Amino acid sequence: MNKQTIRDIDWSGKRALVRVDFNVPLDKDGNITDDTRIRASLPTIRYLLENGASVVLMSHLGRPKKKVVESMRLRPAAERLFELLPEAQEVKKTEVTTGPAAEAAAESLKPGQVLLLENTRFDPREEANDPEMAQELAKLGDVFVNDAFGSAHRAHASTEGVAHHLPAVAGFLMEAELNALMGALEHPQQPFVTIIGGAKISDKIGVIENLLPKVNALIIGGGMANTFLLAQGYALGDSLVETESLDLARSLIEKASAANVKLLLPTDAVIADAFSADAQQQVVAVDSVPDGWRILDIGPETIKLYQEALEGAKLVIWNGPMGVFEMEPFAKGTRSIAQVLADAASTNAMTIVGGGDSVAAVEQAGLADKISHISTGGGASLELLEGKVLPGVAILRDK
Ligand code: 3PG
Repeated sequence: MNKQTIRDIDWSGKRALVRVDFNVPLDKDGNITDDTRIRASLPTIRYLLENGASVVLMSHLGRPKKKVVESMRLRPAAERLFELLPEAQEVKKTEVTTGPAAEAAAESLKPGQVLLLENTRFDPREEANDPEMAQELAKLGDVFVNDAFGSAHRAHASTEGVAHHLPAVAGFLMEAELNALMGALEHPQQPFVTIIGGAKISDKIGVIENLLPKVNALIIGGGMANTFLLAQGYALGDSLVETESLDLARSLIEKASAANVKLLLPTDAVIADAFSADAQQQVVAVDSVPDGWRILDIGPETIKLYQEALEGAKLVIWNGPMGVFEMEPFAKGTRSIAQVLADAASTNAMTIVGGGDSVAAVEQAGLADKISHISTGGGASLELLEGKVLPGVAILRDK
């Protein structure tokens, strides 16, 4: 990564203004159901505290639509952070994001102390990347640290605007994400296989087009595979298809063939007579989907085909599930891919998983510690794989 990091700053007596991504899932009672993103910020916060800084944290949570939403306050995140970071002695929390009360709270911090500001998106100026809000935020610290990889694709006041007013460097999570994802793409180990799933081709077109010239094989699963199959003339009953993307699917098939990339599509599927876990199910070849039935997962022959395609790969990037894995009867395809990636660890392959659903599948299967890199960013990792420049990264100081 060619950006400066927190290692390049002398923190003694300085106040670090750190953008983290504490956009964590909450249950209906406001309890955090997955604190991965908070845990992922700990190395940066610890380093800053150990090196004599005080730390002002800022984050968004959810999409409050430019106003205060009580259920989206960051209090639970502050409490969880304190549980995970007892050495901080206290994690202070303001009810505001900027202004005199936030400034007083930031100024009162002593080295070793931590403050979390209120949800940045309660302020209508955040998503507009308003320069005044950016300036107000900049008053809260001496150096800006962006450790919110998951939000780095957003050009908001707390992710990009503020960096115009302070020296701006990357935190350790940001560095690890960029090194893993960009490092893999800049110097891909061969054979390089990518697995793309999820419901729609239109969501993944940018990734496929960017990766096609680099990969040896492209494996397609999930609802988007249906559109490729339809483009090849198969009748798919009531399966989800994007008829408006048929030409796109055809052109991707042609591009893959021209680039000598093996494009793998399902040959069989688990089908059901309704979109429900209780529906009747059967396994059929993809040329035998009866009317009234729909494809909800890849079938056993396809799983085997995909396993074989992944054998010996040195770099594997996976984004998007193979089927409706939230419903147990249609989870096998996605879980099998998670298992293949976990097994690849023993062959020293670099395995990278990004995107909320595929990450959830790896975690549900208890295989997360066997994957080389699990990205904390959904949209952000997708945009990196699309080859886009992330505004929250571009603005950081170059090395
Ligand atoms: C995410 O969860 O992907 C990030 O926190 C960004 O959230 P957003 O999609 O609401 O901007």
